[in-house]
Amino acid sequence: MRLILLGAPGSGKGSQAGPLTSHFGILQISTGDMLREARAKGTEMGRLAATYMDAGQLVPDEVVIGIVEERLKNPDCEKGFILDGFPRTLVQAAALDEALGRLGITIDRVVEIRVGDEVILPRITGRRSCPQCKKPYHIQFGPPKRDLLCDTCDVPLVHRDDDTETAVVKRLEAYHKMTAPLVDYYEKQGKLLVVDGTGKVSEVTERIFKVLS
Ligand code: AP5
Repeated sequence: MRLILLGAPGSGKGSQAGPLTSHFGILQISTGDMLREARAKGTEMGRLAATYMDAGQLVPDEVVIGIVEERLKNPDCEKGFILDGFPRTLVQAAALDEALGRLGITIDRVVEIRVGDEVILPRITGRRSCPQCKKPYHIQFGPPKRDLLCDTCDVPLVHRDDDTETAVVKRLEAYHKMTAPLVDYYEKQGKLLVVDGTGKVSEVTERIFKVLS
C-alpha cells in the first residue's frame, strides 16, 4: 500500500498515520519530521528549513523533493509507505510521480482529511509531541496518561516552534494557496478519497479504513 495523507495543518495527518502504519505494516514518511530532525542536527539544510518553518512558509520545493527522492530509494520503502505532508505543491506532486515512475511504482490512494479552518487553531496551539516517537498528543483532546510524558517513551512532550498562532495563520494561507490544488490533481488521477476529519481521532480512523476497504 502506497498512500498519501493530504490535509491542512492540524487536520490530523500525523495522528492518523500511526494506526494506518500499524495496520498495513508500512512506513510513515513525514517531511515535517525529516526537516525537524535536520534542524535538530544543525545541518545546513536544517538551518535553512528552520527559517521557512518558523515563519509558517513552505520550504523550497527543490530541498523537500531532494530529501523525499533519497528516502524513497531506501529498501525499507519496498513494502509500502504513507507520505505525510508531501507533496504540498503541484511541482512536488509532479516530481513524486516522476520519481516513483523511475522506480516502477505508483501511489495507490490519496486520502484527504478535510476539516474547516475553525478547528485548526485550537488543535495546533494545544498540540504536544513526543520528541522520540513523534506521536502527537493534545492537552485537551488527547492528553497523555501521565503529566505531559509520552505514554510509550516516557519522555517529556514538546511544543513545536512553529505551533504559534502567527505561524498557523501563515501555514493555513500556504495550504489554501499551494496545497489545496492537489485535491483536483489527485481527483483527476482517480486516486482521491475524502474523509471528514472532525470528531474523535478514533472516529476519523474508522472513516479512513472504511474508504480504503
Ligand atoms: P508538518 O510537520 O508537515 O506540519 P503540518 O502539515 O502543518 O501539519 P501538522 O503536523 O501541523 O498537523 P497534522 O495534520 O499532522 O495534525 P496532527 O495529527 O499533529 O510541516 C511543518 C512545516 O515543515 C511546514 O509548515 C513547512 O514549513 C515544512 N514542510 C513540511 N513538509 C513540507 C513540504 N512537503 N514542502 C514544503 N515545506 C514543508 O494533529 C494536530 C493536533 O490536533 C494534535 O494535537 C492532535 O492530537 C489533535 N488532533 C488530531 N486529530 C484530532 C481530532 N480528530 N480531534 C481532536 N484533536 C485532534
